[in-house]
Amino acid sequence: MLLPSAPDVRELLARAGQPEVLRFWEQLTAEERRLLEAAVKQLEPGPLRAHCQEAATARHREQQAAPNTHRHMQPLPGEVTGSSARAEPQSLRGWRERGFHEISESRVAVLLLAGGQGTRLGVPYPKGMYDVGLPSGKTLYQIQAERIRKVQQLAEERLGKKCVVPWYIMTSEFTLEPTQKFFAQHNYFGLVKSNVVMFEQQMLPAVDFNGRIILEQKGKIAMAPDGNGGLYRALTNNRILEDMDRRGICFVHVYCVDNILVKMADPVFIGFCVEKGADCGAKVVEKAYPTEPVGVVCLVDGIYQVVEYSEVSQETVEQRNPDGRLTFNAGNICNHFFTVDFLKSVTEEFEPQLKRHIAVKKIPYVDEQGNAVRPEVPNGIKMEKFVFDVFQFSKKFVVFEVLREDEFSPLKNADSAGSKDTPSTARRALLWQHYRWALQAGAHFLDSNNMRIPHLTRHQEAEEPPAVCEISALVSCEGEGLEEYLKDREFRSPLLLTEEALTALGQCQ
Ligand code: UD1
Repeated sequence: MLLPSAPDVRELLARAGQPEVLRFWEQLTAEERRLLEAAVKQLEPGPLRAHCQEAATARHREQQAAPNTHRHMQPLPGEVTGSSARAEPQSLRGWRERGFHEISESRVAVLLLAGGQGTRLGVPYPKGMYDVGLPSGKTLYQIQAERIRKVQQLAEERLGKKCVVPWYIMTSEFTLEPTQKFFAQHNYFGLVKSNVVMFEQQMLPAVDFNGRIILEQKGKIAMAPDGNGGLYRALTNNRILEDMDRRGICFVHVYCVDNILVKMADPVFIGFCVEKGADCGAKVVEKAYPTEPVGVVCLVDGIYQVVEYSEVSQETVEQRNPDGRLTFNAGNICNHFFTVDFLKSVTEEFEPQLKRHIAVKKIPYVDEQGNAVRPEVPNGIKMEKFVFDVFQFSKKFVVFEVLREDEFSPLKNADSAGSKDTPSTARRALLWQHYRWALQAGAHFLDSNNMRIPHLTRHQEAEEPPAVCEISALVSCEGEGLEEYLKDREFRSPLLLTEEALTALGQCQ
């Protein structure tokens, strides 16, 4: 068989200063050559050269510079922050109404960042397909889809108008195909297919400390998605803002895939941001303890930023206000509000200015003899942009603090990796929340001897709830509408409250 000679890719790589990518060319099969050619052709020589050089010099710069971000950090000023726990009930009501109004006018979309590789969780499929072991067996994608259906339904009921909350899903080369298949297999979880828009973010080559592209196999470049801040370029490349314009979308609620408690198109958060006239907003939770591995939203030299925990000194993370609260306590939960106009200004003007963060990683590679190596120490660099690095371009930035137990329990690590942010902690967080909702609605739970299980509301993270209760998002989004069915009734654990179960309860009242 005639093997392709690859003059185009040879030239492209020479112009990018990376000719060694083809060093095993003679040993590759026709199929391997075809794949490598296709991968290289997606890259442009100029930007590729710049990317590789920048990675190496950024790493060098970072090694030289002492981490001193904390010296310029200032906490958020009171006037930009709101809080679900401390706001007056009438303010909360107003924000909720405004949010539902915007949703009912079909002006709100949700956008999921799902291009990550989920390396820490260690499963070979997208994180959204993960089942944390709920009685229903629902995956994160299904939970999110049902929350969208419910918020649409609630908005329609309140304002008497049919509406759509489109769901934009940013995937990457790793996650697009399995996500598409999964949604098709599950009939889009009851959503209308044309209202679920999947698009792909860019991939970039990983490089070694000298700026040379790493080969993962003889014919395969080690590629990684360009970070969740790759969103802005992906919006342009896939003409997503035009799609939003066509649908009349004005506000976008952006969130990350792994938070099992995420509120989709949260009417209170949307309403808060819209009422404040914000073009950009961040939802935060109070940090649980000084060294919790979450970024903090704050000011650095007068500019709104998220400072990752690794960039802050011990002294700064432990700093407290006179009331005992941590000074830098606005924990970023990767849950953001943007107006479409703001996203346009970012994609059209500011995107090239976004900082490139370097992540130093252990990247499997082939050595000069072509042997596959799994390094034990970091050997390479991945470059990423971060979704929150656009806060600095906002004309009106706001922050909304919510309660962790209601809104934040991320799935990051495998159960085997410890006790933090695992499938077990995510499952328990959701079951505790639903158990609390059931108690608030007046339910009682019985043990196997038909004795009432004493109510328990405060608990340790590692504790299982006294009774297992899972409430479908199609039944209730935030614990609303349950009293009529649950008040003063007794249930055996486990209770799985689906729409059908609710209908049956309604009938036997
Ligand atoms: C993220 C936040 C951190 C916050 C924490 C809370 C960023 C950069 N960091 O950290 O401040 O405290 O969540 O849980 O936002 N993703 C992509 N494409 C990529 C990389 C990631 O879409 O190239 C998506 C992931 O699929 C995920 C989200 O971005 O949905 C967050 O990514 P992850 O790597 O999990 O961020 P963390 O380090 O946990």
